[in-house]
Amino acid sequence: MRWSRRGFLRLCAVAGIGGVGAGFTGCAGKFLDDSLLHAPAQGEARPPKRPDRFILRRDLGDIKGAYAPGPESTRMLSLAQLSDVHITLEGFSLTGHPKLEKMLDGFGDSIGFGGLDRPEIIERFDVDVLRALIKTLNAADTDIDLVVNTGDSVDIGTIRELISFLTEMNQLNIPWFQTVGNHDRLVLGNIPSRLVEAYSGMDFLDKNAFIEKHFPTGKDIAGTTYGSRAKGFDFSPRSEVNPSVRVGFYTFTALPPVHGGLRGGRARPGIRFYVLDTSRSEGSASGQISDEQLEWLARQLKSHSDYLGIVVSHHPIARIKENQSRLLDLLLASPKVIALLCGHDHEHRITPYQAPGGLGFWQIQTSSLIDFPQQGRMLEIYMNPEGTGVVRTFVFNQQAAGHLGENARASYAEASKDRFDGSGKEQDRNADLIFSIAGRLR
Ligand SMILES: [Fe+2]
Repeated sequence: MRWSRRGFLRLCAVAGIGGVGAGFTGCAGKFLDDSLLHAPAQGEARPPKRPDRFILRRDLGDIKGAYAPGPESTRMLSLAQLSDVHITLEGFSLTGHPKLEKMLDGFGDSIGFGGLDRPEIIERFDVDVLRALIKTLNAADTDIDLVVNTGDSVDIGTIRELISFLTEMNQLNIPWFQTVGNHDRLVLGNIPSRLVEAYSGMDFLDKNAFIEKHFPTGKDIAGTTYGSRAKGFDFSPRSEVNPSVRVGFYTFTALPPVHGGLRGGRARPGIRFYVLDTSRSEGSASGQISDEQLEWLARQLKSHSDYLGIVVSHHPIARIKENQSRLLDLLLASPKVIALLCGHDHEHRITPYQAPGGLGFWQIQTSSLIDFPQQGRMLEIYMNPEGTGVVRTFVFNQQAAGHLGENARASYAEASKDRFDGSGKEQDRNADLIFSIAGRLR
């Protein structure tokens, strides 16, 4: 049975919280369970399984001396990406809020599908799926330098959902970096919280609340400390336009360059990350990038000449509506940028964005943990002696045992029967993405 978000909300409003009839259990408010927040994960895990083969992709151009990683290649950096976790601990109902329903109806078809009709078992075990993925990464922690989450940590957009997400993510033994998605600052990924809070009385996130909750000095409504062991927003400066607002974009060095060699030149470039905030303050699931952020990014990309650059955002280029062409032009004119990591579409996809001379970057999109195939992604950056490089990437399932693994697999099995398959094609999952190095450094 497939429901539009609008029809779903109407039905919830009529039926009240908790089941609305045979075969339909998606709008229950019964997932709010404090014991889930701090219960230890039951089960062990194994590291991400490597695939047997990788598709060699030369889509950026015929780059001389480029080939798949071999014994002579140097691994510069290894990272994991997860995306669109969509933790849902609280049901969302319009019961008792007819004004809110009327307001949502006023949006008409301008608001997209909210995902509230997922089968119950998928949402019931969303924490288990995340825990299983974290355990899988922790089992390989000596082999992974950092983890990047490309946004949509939460689903409805409540503060309690974020606390749950951060509680789980703090079990990671690896530094992790956070990105703002549309669900992280907008109710149902679409609606500014100030419009809804007046009608619902619930505590929803806005961007400032989302960022501030990542700092370990905060207190939640019950007085329990929370926050995040994530790095990332601690690099996030105050807005130049409004200094009272912390911006959601930042940059950091993941790997410093090595100087030396016979002539004292560059022996190995560094790698620097540029994390963008593409969420829209005015509402809507589509992305935007502000003038202020573009100017900041242009300044940042001009500095650190000994570095390759990896850009991170929630939205892929095609989903950014405002300033899309300015962003793309800037990235293509910045040869240091080799990759853009993103999520949002809940689908594995790898797209080349070419620039003359074999330059340009790979857009690497990763699926969601709430929709099939509920996978994470590994990325390894290699340097070959000929002045070329490779992004070796592969996707992986959670590898947990015990109850944790059983619950995660039950969710996976249900998701596989669901309407949505974000697996992509083979070349979108496990691939060696060739790029040049020499032509990118100034
Ligand atoms: Fe999402």
